[in-house]
Amino acid sequence: MTLEWKKVSKRFGDKQAVDELSLEVPEGELLVLIGPSGCGKTTSLKMINRLVDPQTGSVLVGGRDVSHVPAVELRRHIGYVIQHVGLFPHMRVSENVGAVPKLLGWSKEKIEQRVHELLELVGLPPQDYAQSWPAHLSGGEAQRVGVARALAADPPVLLMDEPFGAVDPLTREILQREFLRIQSTLGKTVVFVTHDLDEAIRLGDRIAVMNEGRLVAAAPPAELLLNADPFIRDFTGEDRALRRLARLSVGQALGDATPMKSASRRDASVGAIRTDATLKEALSQMLEAGETSLEAFSPAGRSMGTLTLEDLLERAAGEVAS
Ligand SMILES: Nc1ncnc2c1ncn2[C@@H]1O[C@H](COP(=O)(O)OP(=O)(O)OP(=O)(O)O)[C@@H](O)[C@H]1O
Ligand SMILES: [Mg+2]
Repeated sequence: MTLEWKKVSKRFGDKQAVDELSLEVPEGELLVLIGPSGCGKTTSLKMINRLVDPQTGSVLVGGRDVSHVPAVELRRHIGYVIQHVGLFPHMRVSENVGAVPKLLGWSKEKIEQRVHELLELVGLPPQDYAQSWPAHLSGGEAQRVGVARALAADPPVLLMDEPFGAVDPLTREILQREFLRIQSTLGKTVVFVTHDLDEAIRLGDRIAVMNEGRLVAAAPPAELLLNADPFIRDFTGEDRALRRLARLSVGQALGDATPMKSASRRDASVGAIRTDATLKEALSQMLEAGETSLEAFSPAGRSMGTLTLEDLLERAAGEVAS
């Protein structure tokens, strides 16, 4: 299901929270919204499920202007993970996850089965977690329950507002990896809000950068990191070349189409690298081994040529079209 903001503006008192935002999200895309605190990310997100109504402009979901769709009906098609998790504290994990299906009038058996399936999907064994209370969960477990709850009625659209914000970096990386795995099978249209540029680069098909209510740029990660706009340069930081390498695969640098397996674990062996590794990993391996080239192998073990330090430097500088 597609999404679109069309010249959307929202003001709270004197504060222009969102200023003429125009942006389309194609079906199945994972769009990351990023920008400084207060730049209008949450407000933009909430206009999709009508928790906030714009003063001017319109928001389209699946081509329909949301102002003409009753909010309750609209929200049936939109899963929402709110900032700071927001589990219902007086409900057990199973009741939290089953809340929307229950509202939709599903049978008890069907809800139970769905809850079971979703807890498995987010890596929380139902026999251990279904009966737990939210207050007894760790931060990472609570965020998994939040994702399971948003997926419960299998909505085509997911809105996620800093869903992994409240956990340590290691747990966050695990949650990101698992979310990518889930998304690769479900293919939802996702708008994902974050403060964390590395998270945006890892997850986004496209990254939209906002500042003071306005859209500054929207582009795939590797492209965004080449953007010369002063705000974007500043925002993406001094190590943007390294970050760029984190979104390009060895295979891509060698002109091969093997997709990158972002954030997955691979076995490394001296002098060799897999084509689905990132160029950042390749660089790290070269630095560690003191080598200026690595033999590249496909995941199936086929020899795919030699990756040189020079190839890497060209890619980091963006001299080769990706
Ligand atoms: N209900 C409201 N009433 C008044 N002002 C609001 C309201 N909601 C948002 N704002 C203001 O609008 C601006 C944008 O807020 P928003 O929550 O969209 O920012 P954000 O980008 O999500 O920030 P953060 O990264 O801190 O979550 C902020 O200045 C905020 O104070
Ligand atoms: Mg916010």
